[in-house]
Amino acid sequence: MRSSATPKPPRSHTPVPSDWRPEVERVLITDAQIARRVRTLARVIERDFRGREVVVISLLNGTVLFLADLIRHLSLPLRLDFIGVSSYGAGTESGELVFTKELRLDVRGRDVLLVDDILDTGKTLSRVIPKLRALNPRRIKVCVLLDKPSRRVEKVAADYVGFEIPDVFVVGYGLDYAEKYRNLPFVGVLKPAMYQT
Ligand code: PRP
Repeated sequence: MRSSATPKPPRSHTPVPSDWRPEVERVLITDAQIARRVRTLARVIERDFRGREVVVISLLNGTVLFLADLIRHLSLPLRLDFIGVSSYGAGTESGELVFTKELRLDVRGRDVLLVDDILDTGKTLSRVIPKLRALNPRRIKVCVLLDKPSRRVEKVAADYVGFEIPDVFVVGYGLDYAEKYRNLPFVGVLKPAMYQT
């Protein structure tokens, strides 16, 4: 699923909806492109897990939209749990990681699908994956909607990637800036003026 199979979104000509035009520069990935790609990811995940029961672990908060769309296309027996983790950085930079909710389900001997919205520097997943490994699951597979490889500082990769994107500040479809914009149905590029004060 990695490398050549991961699409880079083509330059979108879809206009930004008028309500968001003052803040959002352009649409990077449309809702239709997301929906298509999520269905493809779900098919690949289903094939890889071949009917085994999966514990889906979703990292709060940014995954909520992606997770909801992904799991409704997964015809697998699954249980769902969440880990709350946030990086409290200044502005657009990721900073210190804080765990706000711990896992409740027992994952020992289980197949785990870890879901996140974006793999950026890799600091989050490089903390979360060893923490999960210590609980002795059978295996951990990582699924992210977006991958920004140019920003990586930690050696971490995802098994399933929706889109590989350039180093632009994205919001929408769960992704925020200062907790705003998560409800946009598309992934958009935020106008620099919104975060450069
Ligand atoms: C975002 C995102 C990923 C993480 C990726 O979370 O949801 O978990 O950053 O960045 P990294 O690869 O540089 O670690 P954030 O801490 O902003 O919290 P949120 O999910 O509540 O938006």
